[in-house]
Amino acid sequence: MTIHIGAAPGDIAETVLLPGDPFRAKWAAETFLSDVRNVNSTRGMLGFTGTWNGNLVTIQGSGMGMPSLSIYANELIRDFGAQTLIRIGSCGGMQDHVGLRDVILAMTATTITSPSSTIFREVNFAPCADWTLLRAAAAAAEAQGTRTHIGGIYSSDTFYDERPDLNEQMVRHGILGVEMEAAELYTLAARHNRRALAVLTVSDHLLTGEALPSEDRERSFGAMVEIALNAAFPDAQ
Ligand code: HPA
Repeated sequence: MTIHIGAAPGDIAETVLLPGDPFRAKWAAETFLSDVRNVNSTRGMLGFTGTWNGNLVTIQGSGMGMPSLSIYANELIRDFGAQTLIRIGSCGGMQDHVGLRDVILAMTATTITSPSSTIFREVNFAPCADWTLLRAAAAAAEAQGTRTHIGGIYSSDTFYDERPDLNEQMVRHGILGVEMEAAELYTLAARHNRRALAVLTVSDHLLTGEALPSEDRERSFGAMVEIALNAAFPDAQ
């Protein structure tokens, strides 16, 4: 039990999927896992542990933004021994060839600042995904037939951004999409020698202004959860 996670030691699996939304954690656990039990409800940030094809998995909400994710990822890594952490979340598309419902596998996550930025001082650390997870996720996405893009994303601190010029620079430099958590997750994984990846569904588009209708979201998000589970357990039947 930690300050923010009320689980008992041993309640959390070595593989943890991290949606921002605690209700999406509940939905994903109930939809994809067997023998599911609720392991955390502290602050309503729901977490569930169950099995997928015989493998133990925890799906724990991270909240929105890097400060919130940092709290959960730190406690999962340092106190519960999480080894593989996969963010499953939504993002805003930033390129013409990236469409709604497409999946983005974040090879790198650019950020202006994260809770870890202060320790790097003048260095611009380059947070990147774990290669073995990225490779397995790419294979799973291809096998599934989901339109998938692999490349850089932007982890922003502001959903309601008053600096449109920043997004313009991201678009100009080929960034595929924007979300608010991956850069800190990748940085913490690097620091603690763990594996991390962000698998994202494009839920809205910054260039076109389109957004997924809410009834479409569940089906599209399911593809992302399956990719994440297959990436974590590539040998599962
Ligand atoms: N901006 C930031 N985070 C997001 C967005 C967005 O447009 N869409 C989904 N997560």
